Amino acid sequence: MTDDLLARHRAVLPSWMPLYYAEPIELVSGSGRRVTDAQGRSYLDFFGGVLTNMIGYDIPEIREAVERQLATGIVHTSTLYLIRQQVELAEKIAHHSGIPDARVFFTNSGTEANEAALLVATNHRRSHQILAVRNSYHGRSYAAMGVTGNRNWSASGLNPLQVAWLHSGDRVRGLLARLSEDEQVDAAVEDLREVLATQTAGDVAALIAEPIQGVGGFVHPPDGLFAGWKKVLDEHGILFIADEVQTGWGRTGEHFWGYQAHGVTPDLLTFAKGIGNGFVLAGVVGRAEVLESVPAISFSTFGGNPISTAAGNAVLDYVLEHDLQANAARVGAILADGLRSAVGGLDCVAEVRGKGLMLGVEFVRPGSSEPDPGLTNRVFEAAREGGLLTGKGGLHGNVLRMGPPLTLTEEEAREGLAILVDAIRSAAGVAA
Ligand SMILES: Cc1ncc(COP(=O)(O)O)c(C=O)c1O
Repeated sequence: MTDDLLARHRAVLPSWMPLYYAEPIELVSGSGRRVTDAQGRSYLDFFGGVLTNMIGYDIPEIREAVERQLATGIVHTSTLYLIRQQVELAEKIAHHSGIPDARVFFTNSGTEANEAALLVATNHRRSHQILAVRNSYHGRSYAAMGVTGNRNWSASGLNPLQVAWLHSGDRVRGLLARLSEDEQVDAAVEDLREVLATQTAGDVAALIAEPIQGVGGFVHPPDGLFAGWKKVLDEHGILFIADEVQTGWGRTGEHFWGYQAHGVTPDLLTFAKGIGNGFVLAGVVGRAEVLESVPAISFSTFGGNPISTAAGNAVLDYVLEHDLQANAARVGAILADGLRSAVGGLDCVAEVRGKGLMLGVEFVRPGSSEPDPGLTNRVFEAAREGGLLTGKGGLHGNVLRMGPPLTLTEEEAREGLAILVDAIRSAAGVAA
């Protein structure tokens, strides 16, 4: 029984690890974009285990690739031995990263990927000064948390880095919110110059930024902002790290990587979540010159192990062979247009935002920019009642987040859209 499991969970797992829903659910089976809970209730999944089940559930190509590797008897060897699956995946990722002369280091989580990126950037530049973005999330280790600009996720003030903060692309609140997109870019670039001149010793190692802020509620800057920033960074030799943990592999529809909306190439790119479709796989890609900045032995016992990289190869092949980026653009547009026309005009909706299959709805008290996490939660619960799993996020917990598998069909998008619109209207007390 789920009730019993909930009590056992609470008795043995830490309370700071949140569970979704007033009545938490246990998902016991899945197929395609649908999951079933322990009560036998089935849901269309628009959150995919936080954008991680990127292809969906029980995908034969991925299951069979993992089964083939399992059948060899080799689950793990350590990276002290050659791992064919790992080399093949690294070749593919290096090729698709857009980064010249790329090297790939595999880790077990996005946190570790960012930790590795920060390690090589700070070593390469011989500086522990980092620029990060307000409202960001980069993980739960000290350095990754140190560049996380969200109080709710900053569990410690201990920080191995010296961090200076840049403005996010928030259009709802904050100093740059009311500006036009061009003005926002100009102001953010001017701010970067001022931050460098006033809050750093000049020799900054890197800027780390998410193209679309995941935990931050899918806030994203105007296209081109990273190019404006990069011009200034280049004047100082400062590296640029794109955290593509949520935005990679075509999720944004318009591009394969989120950074590409800005017409720049990062020095380092971190990935995780979707590439394993649930198998533990993450990593960092970077120019050899930068990624080789490790003046000691460094290795990850499990990083890029044969099972994970068998899954990763199958996932990446699936993404490319089925052109899931194009699907994300096409199906994402159905959702975005549908949400904007059905609820975008409600005075409790501040913004419908995002790209491709990474879409958020921000809720506020009517006629203001005051966050309404209560309404967000009611919508979230109502959507589940209606048979749709979504996510929540944002600095104030007032953003509903949708990041379904990239295989979502048009019919499923319409089905989920109808549930969402009903949930929003009923929670907001708007007549259908
Ligand atoms: C943008 C981003 N970076 C890093 C992380 C950390 O990844 P992980 O939870 O795999 O350590 C996350 C996780 O949500 C994320 O969204």
